[in-house]
Amino acid sequence: MSMASISRRGGIGIIVLLVGACTPGGGSDDDSDGMMGSTSDAPTTGQPTTGDSNDDGADSGSSDGATDGLPTACDEDELSNMYAQYVEPFVSGAVPQSCSQCHMTGIDMSIYAQDTPCDTMACMVEMGAVDLENPAGSSLLAQIQLGDPNSSVFDVSEEHAAMLEWIEWSAQCHGEICGESETSVCSSGTGASSTGQNPIGDCSEDDLLVEFWNSVIVDRGRCLTCHSSYGVEAGTFGACADVSDCTGPQLCEDGFCRAPGPWLAPHMFEGVDGPLDWENPADRQLGLNTLYNMVALGQIDEDNPLDSTLLTKPLLQDFDPEAIYGDGVDMPSVPVDVGMGVAHGGTSKFNFGFHGAEGEPPPPTTGVIDCRTDEPCAGGDGAPCSEGRTCQEGLCRAPGSYCDPTYTNYVRFVQYFASCKGE
Ligand code: HEC
Ligand code: HEC
Repeated sequence: MSMASISRRGGIGIIVLLVGACTPGGGSDDDSDGMMGSTSDAPTTGQPTTGDSNDDGADSGSSDGATDGLPTACDEDELSNMYAQYVEPFVSGAVPQSCSQCHMTGIDMSIYAQDTPCDTMACMVEMGAVDLENPAGSSLLAQIQLGDPNSSVFDVSEEHAAMLEWIEWSAQCHGEICGESETSVCSSGTGASSTGQNPIGDCSEDDLLVEFWNSVIVDRGRCLTCHSSYGVEAGTFGACADVSDCTGPQLCEDGFCRAPGPWLAPHMFEGVDGPLDWENPADRQLGLNTLYNMVALGQIDEDNPLDSTLLTKPLLQDFDPEAIYGDGVDMPSVPVDVGMGVAHGGTSKFNFGFHGAEGEPPPPTTGVIDCRTDEPCAGGDGAPCSEGRTCQEGLCRAPGSYCDPTYTNYVRFVQYFASCKGE
């Protein structure tokens, strides 16, 4: 009996698996054999009284392998959820070539896509991509496993596990929900229509990339040393048996001494050291893939843009911005506790020159961030400025304010992203 029969509770688990995938470590994906274990979720023994309870306890890969009885529910909503989340975006998205940089690489999902989820699955069976008698043996799964995503954080084993779960669910429920297929089911439709499951919302990919480029990509050198697989390579030193073979803060991981930052940080930045060139299509692709990585890992919070981890991780720890001004950013009042800097494995990057070293003044815990350059002032500090601003180093800005332009550029980007998502 194969592993295929392990998981019997399908459905929403797929979504859970994918979302739960947002904690890639520095390690390689050794878990590539389709085990259903969803490691990041709190284990629950779950009591799925209804098949569609949206519990994120999920099925943590119970190994009871028993097939006693039917699954708790074969629910049509479950089928459409899985389909909308998992298949549909990759057969009819507005920008399918972009998605296949990472998802389903080398697989043309559109050849299976039909008007309904039932017909799509039936078509996959008819074309031999899916084997409902032996779900884990489905050739589609083998193809997914062979995928070669252009991303340092995408995990094919997550995609494999999610697809396996759908196939297993179908092995149980397809007959009950969908009934017998008619002949030649692959011609029942010309392809599903998009329900808009697009991670970047309503914005055009090109427009969003321009915004991302001008704020995040231009300053990626500040993050690349840790948040990239390039950084891991650069931070890998001699072989080690244990940490006593390594120097300083290095870790001994996978047989080598490693700088801890790149080993522990998620690698959402693509490419190697040195600036990316907008005119170079290959570089633009690296920028775009970085953008999708950020979105997929949840670094941007469209509901509360200032609380995006993209901003709060590198911001001075415990700093609570009162107001934020910069190029294209005008926020005269930020509510208390919104946008506060948090602890960061890479230390505070936007620290306004405060390093918390002994003998130095303690870092501020609140203040105005002002990086405006629209009002120069000549004549030194004290020169006249418009209301609410004073002259500081040749620029009129809020009195006593702090500036790190990377931060205010990030703010502009997250606001733009939120607008794409209709916030
Ligand atoms: C540069 C790589 C990359 C690209 C390009 C990409 N994604 Fe993803 N996507 C990811 C990663 C990483 C995850 C997290 C799961 C994983 O690691 O398998 C993910 C997860 C998802 C999920 C499931 C989780 C969720 O948030 O709902 C959907 C749906 C999804 N992507 C849709 C798309 C679509 C549609 C496109 C094209 C418009 C796209 N992705 C392009 C990397 C990418
Ligand atoms: C010296 C190494 C280092 C540098 C440089 C660095 N980081 Fe990090 N970062 C880490 C480590 C380690 C973690 C994981 C621990 C944690 O969450 O704080 C992390 C976590 C994060 C996270 C949370 C990731 C997640 O999914 O949990 C974000 C977002 C982030 N960093 C953004 C940035 C940005 C933006 C920059 C550049 C301005 C940057 N970091 C520079 C080491 C670094």
